[in-house]
Amino acid sequence: MQKKLTIAIDGYSSCGKSTIAKAIAKKLGYVYVDSGAMYRAVTLYLMNQGILKDKNFLMKQVLAALPNIQIDFVFDPQKEVAETMLNGQNVETEIRSLAVSQRVSQISTIKEVREKLVELQQQLGEAGGVVMDGRDIGTVVFPNADLKLFITAEVDIRTERRLLEMKQKNSAINFEDVKQNLVERDRVDMSRAISPLIQAKDAVVIDNSNLSETAQFELVLGLIKEKEL
Ligand code: DC
Repeated sequence: MQKKLTIAIDGYSSCGKSTIAKAIAKKLGYVYVDSGAMYRAVTLYLMNQGILKDKNFLMKQVLAALPNIQIDFVFDPQKEVAETMLNGQNVETEIRSLAVSQRVSQISTIKEVREKLVELQQQLGEAGGVVMDGRDIGTVVFPNADLKLFITAEVDIRTERRLLEMKQKNSAINFEDVKQNLVERDRVDMSRAISPLIQAKDAVVIDNSNLSETAQFELVLGLIKEKEL
């Protein structure tokens, strides 16, 4: 039987991490875990509770809320994707809103939030046969992952891709707002004190600015084959 690998995919906001992660998981029959969805779900919960009304939230309220947050993924066989559940409710659409995107990086800097979510991520991946994407998967969550990828793409290309995705969901949104959000999220994600977004030393870097999804998929499959030997 082939070895069940742990594959860690990190990189900047909206550079197609989840696209390649999902495709690889499907091809190999692995579990795909979107770690960003977990940070988004925590942020949504805090917003819904009125804890994040403005930028200066009360840390005490955030910490008190954390034990009340339960996050699961439920596989939808029709869409062939796992959807994010927050305390039993499907929040897959809400967590992708610009409002959540604008607060999530700030919430991701909180040590206790990261500890809770990293523990859950490690549990989900403990049996192997997992593809997980995020910002600290190869550095913190699975430092011994069999394959680590660090994905990047030019910011204008990432903005266009994100814009298209949001427009398909009928979001009234413009290029500059989306770009500003991406740039700001990258800045906060790279500069936070705990588990910042950095490239793991042993990660393979893929700049997919000019790479088709198919070309990227073939490239990654080739890297996986080398690890399976
Ligand atoms: O992958 P995403 O864009 O949906 O992630 C949303 C935010 O969550 C991202 O801006 C930073 C945070 N995040 C994180 O801090 N660590 C991860 N492993 C995944 C996401």
